Amino acid sequence: MPLVTTKEMFEKSIKEHFAIGAFNINNMEFIQAITEAADEAKSPVILQVSSGAIKYAKMNYLIKMVEAAVKETNIPIALHLDHGPDFETCKMCIDSGFTSVMIDGSKYDFEENVAITKKVVEYAHSKGVVVEAELGKLAGVEDDVNVSEDDARYTDPDQAKEFVERTGCDSLAIAIGTSHGAYKFKGDAKLRFDILAKIKEQLPDTPIVLHGASSVVPELVEMCNQNGGDIPGAKGCPDEMLKQAGETGVSKINVDTDLRLAMTAQVRRVFKEEPSVFDPRKYLGAARDEIKKTVAHKITDVFCSANKA
Ligand code: G3H
Ligand code: 13P
Ligand code: ZN
Repeated sequence: MPLVTTKEMFEKSIKEHFAIGAFNINNMEFIQAITEAADEAKSPVILQVSSGAIKYAKMNYLIKMVEAAVKETNIPIALHLDHGPDFETCKMCIDSGFTSVMIDGSKYDFEENVAITKKVVEYAHSKGVVVEAELGKLAGVEDDVNVSEDDARYTDPDQAKEFVERTGCDSLAIAIGTSHGAYKFKGDAKLRFDILAKIKEQLPDTPIVLHGASSVVPELVEMCNQNGGDIPGAKGCPDEMLKQAGETGVSKINVDTDLRLAMTAQVRRVFKEEPSVFDPRKYLGAARDEIKKTVAHKITDVFCSANKA
């Protein structure tokens, strides 16, 4: 089947209370691992690309590799721009064949965020592409956007309703306590499920998106550290919390950090255990297997999107 938008998969997720994994891709191994895991689980999946990924891999390579994955599999796959920084980047992705874009106006004030989101929605919808917008600020680093933890602002449920009505966006990324990267919580992990519930009350039919949702898998951090890495004190969102998020109204769960850890852990392990290896297929193959395992676990045991294709 060809690339799809997120419309149908989100409708199903709202009706059946599960979430769809949105995984960041940067090269062939990520694309193969994610789509093979989703295909084997018969799950819909979202492949997402940041501006940094486009700079690294180049648009044509990413598109062609995603097209290849679509041909190799038999599940709904959406291609999404992650954290689109401006109208021009969104337009470039829409014109290149993406089926979904995010305009991240969270760095602007409310009115400016409404204005830029509306502009992207108008163009995207004229081309049959759907739009994710963001309201509220995540702590940590979002691509080009730096938000200090003190500035972190949760999404206001009433503002969220006004924002969606005025912009016409198709899905909304919210801030309820997650953050990007490997250091999400200083003490215990805590998500504001009360705010999520209020947002869902206001917007029962709008797909809700959770960014910064890696669990920072302890085994992968340990494998990195045991093989020469230095990632002390990393902490993410526990699986149970993400499962609860999927069951209580989150339709899209964004994961990048966990796949970076999976790749790095295996590359480090092979380098340490087999110092004579210099065939990249040996360490990239092991990395691809670990990414696939990580994605399969999330899809089946945490997001519950297996057999929903
Ligand atoms: O939320 C940001 C994603 O993890 C993408 O990160 O801009 O380094 O590709 P990146
Ligand atoms: P993580 O850093 O938690 O993987 O979040 C990724 C993300 O939100 C991409 O938009
Ligand atoms: Zn994000």
